[in-house]
Amino acid sequence: MNYISINDIDNLSEWVNEAIDLKKDPYQYQGLGKNKTIGMLFFNNSLRTRLSTQKAAMNLGMETIVMNFGSEGWALEFEDGVVMDQGKSEHIKEAAQVISQFCDVIAIRAFASLKDKEKDLAEEVLTAFVKYASVPIVNMESSVAHPLQALADAITLEEFKGVQKPKVVLSWAPHPKALPHAVANSFIEMMQKQDVDFVITHPKGYELNPEVVKDAIVEYEQDKAFANADFIYTKNWSAFNDYGKVISQNRNWTITKDKMAKTNNAKFMHCLPVRRNVVVADEVLDSENSLVIEQANNRTYAAQIVLKKILSSQKS
Ligand code: CP
Repeated sequence: MNYISINDIDNLSEWVNEAIDLKKDPYQYQGLGKNKTIGMLFFNNSLRTRLSTQKAAMNLGMETIVMNFGSEGWALEFEDGVVMDQGKSEHIKEAAQVISQFCDVIAIRAFASLKDKEKDLAEEVLTAFVKYASVPIVNMESSVAHPLQALADAITLEEFKGVQKPKVVLSWAPHPKALPHAVANSFIEMMQKQDVDFVITHPKGYELNPEVVKDAIVEYEQDKAFANADFIYTKNWSAFNDYGKVISQNRNWTITKDKMAKTNNAKFMHCLPVRRNVVVADEVLDSENSLVIEQANNRTYAAQIVLKKILSSQKS
């Protein structure tokens, strides 16, 4: 099995509960990964994904190989049938098969370019590894999805929800750089599978991919969206229609104590890294309602349940 999107989760509540159980005793399946190796390939930077996925693999008894492919690997060619007389040194066909000789699972981080919408939506890097590798592939954030983050978020929501059906708000917030849509996409997809009142709020022009948003409620007035919210999940993203552009850095959308006061004493969530006092004010991030460290901690158990499922499927 692969873990490419949250649609690869066959039973969400079971996975979330199993992850919470793993958290209580992380070493209970140490034998499962014996003599198994995960190769983690990074085409982009990381702190949480890199360390938590390694930690998860180690908890399961796996060996880990980490490669900063973007800076240390040969430049890869993804097109079929090209004459490789330019800058690309190695074709994905050989690279993926060769890595499969050394690794039992391959995990990949390859962000959106935010320049070529069609290529980004096609998930060129991830799709090519799925096609040519002979071992399971785990998505550590691709052009359009961050399913490990979304699973960690689902675990965190389950742990901290005070009511059966909480109101969850995904709020855009300003950022000086153009950021991808992956975290927001996967969070939306995850909320669509949960028993929650879900609202997305962002300034006009920041509409996300309609194929992801589907019939989710979009409220353009942040204050209105925040009313009675139990969770505020904040994330910046660049425009999807005017692809990859920063069309507004409106600081009125920064999450402040005054904004949080409009909610039902909501918990604050963000995947991190976060720019303090741009995306969110210190007073919110440092408050007891902030769950960002718990979310980061749950990245280990999200990755661990994914790897456990993959290793178990390899055994059967
Ligand atoms: N949230 C997240 O994926 O963090 P990193 O980019 O540091 O891995």
